[in-house]
Amino acid sequence: MTPSTAASRSYRVGIAGCGAISRNHLEAFRAMENVEIVGVCDVDPDRARATAAEWGVPAAVTTVDELLALGLDIVSVCTPHPTHEDVVLKAAAAGVHALCEKPIATRLDAAERMVAACEEAGVRLGVLFQRRFWPASQKIRAAIDDGTLGRPILAQCSVMLHRAPEYYSKDAWRGTWENDGGGVLMTQAVHYIDLLQWYLGEVAEVYGRINTYRHGENIEVEDSATAVITFTSGAMATVEASTAVSPNLGIQLRITGETGASASLTEFPEGSDGRLDLWAAGGTIAVEPVHPEGVDGNVDLSTINGQLVPHHTSQVRDFIRALDTGTEPAITGRDAVKSLRILLAVYESSRTGRPVRFAEPPVSAAIAPETRAKVPAEAAV
Ligand SMILES: NC(=O)c1ccc[n+]([C@@H]2O[C@H](COP(=O)([O-])OP(=O)(O)OC[C@H]3O[C@@H](n4cnc5c(N)ncnc54)[C@H](O)[C@@H]3O)[C@@H](O)[C@H]2O)c1
Repeated sequence: MTPSTAASRSYRVGIAGCGAISRNHLEAFRAMENVEIVGVCDVDPDRARATAAEWGVPAAVTTVDELLALGLDIVSVCTPHPTHEDVVLKAAAAGVHALCEKPIATRLDAAERMVAACEEAGVRLGVLFQRRFWPASQKIRAAIDDGTLGRPILAQCSVMLHRAPEYYSKDAWRGTWENDGGGVLMTQAVHYIDLLQWYLGEVAEVYGRINTYRHGENIEVEDSATAVITFTSGAMATVEASTAVSPNLGIQLRITGETGASASLTEFPEGSDGRLDLWAAGGTIAVEPVHPEGVDGNVDLSTINGQLVPHHTSQVRDFIRALDTGTEPAITGRDAVKSLRILLAVYESSRTGRPVRFAEPPVSAAIAPETRAKVPAEAAV
């Protein structure tokens, strides 16, 4: 690591994985004044070389060991999900901070090893959930904290996306349990499950179902999922997620707080900044059309990723701030374990047909116990 003082700190960065999302990391780190991107790494040597040439990066290597040997302060992890662990563990062993793409890993034990290794090594681990940096996401968080919404009691999370068959067939790692770890929940919905748990807190119980409706020829994982989640606060949420929708309807996250006020965050078309299409607080309702007529929802992936660059940049800036000030980044490895745990519970619940319980579901903390709905015995099926 570079010896540095708080006043004149600079960081040597290496990018692991030169695929689609690496462009966002390259742009984001390039926008920082105190950062030098010293190397890129990809198991595909042509891709590593082409990326280095395009972005003017001095070194192109094919292994993470070679990348770390360049003397890094930060490694940016842009490799497929199941390889995140290997990269982060090697970085921690070398005393290098890691900013890792989502999902943190595909297995809980791997994610926990990553968190533990970074904590033991005294390096920071951040995980990319750049949608938390949208002004609209931040406004909802602030409305929970300042009492406008107050503590959330209900949420609906609808992730209704389109993916063409080629999305799954072009990269061998996509769509398999072993190499992708899951489908729409693991790769796409994890962003909004992260927002959900950021707003609603610790989860008590998850009941879920997964299915594969339209991509079965190309994938063995789910293209669709539903879940009912109960939080330790007593709040309840539903999730529906799919990549079998065409045209793409985008994403909507609606939250009602204990004050009765509601906010709804919509990302449509996919990749555009989340906006508050409904703000129902203080007796008034402000609405914005969610799906304007004539807009093509089936946006290609490079457009989606390109639109996310400003928010990757916000998260990279936050990560650098954390290193500069010796504090935690806004989204830590421990935070990222939470969304992984929730979505893995949907898989487990779907497999067993039973809810997965992390904690005893509350009688109700959000609603006074004497006023909560009681189901008469004869109503039970
Ligand atoms: N934050 C976001 O919005 C967002 C968007 C897209 C992808 N992602 C995440 O980024 C990661 C990569 O996704 P992608 O779409 O860029 O995939 P990709 O397939 O386009 O790129 C992955 C690259 O990593 C390389 N690679 C594989 N194993 C490697 C290893 N061990 N060492 C070095 N290089 C290796 C591959 O050759 C490939 O070039 C995934 O975890 C994905 O979930 C995040």
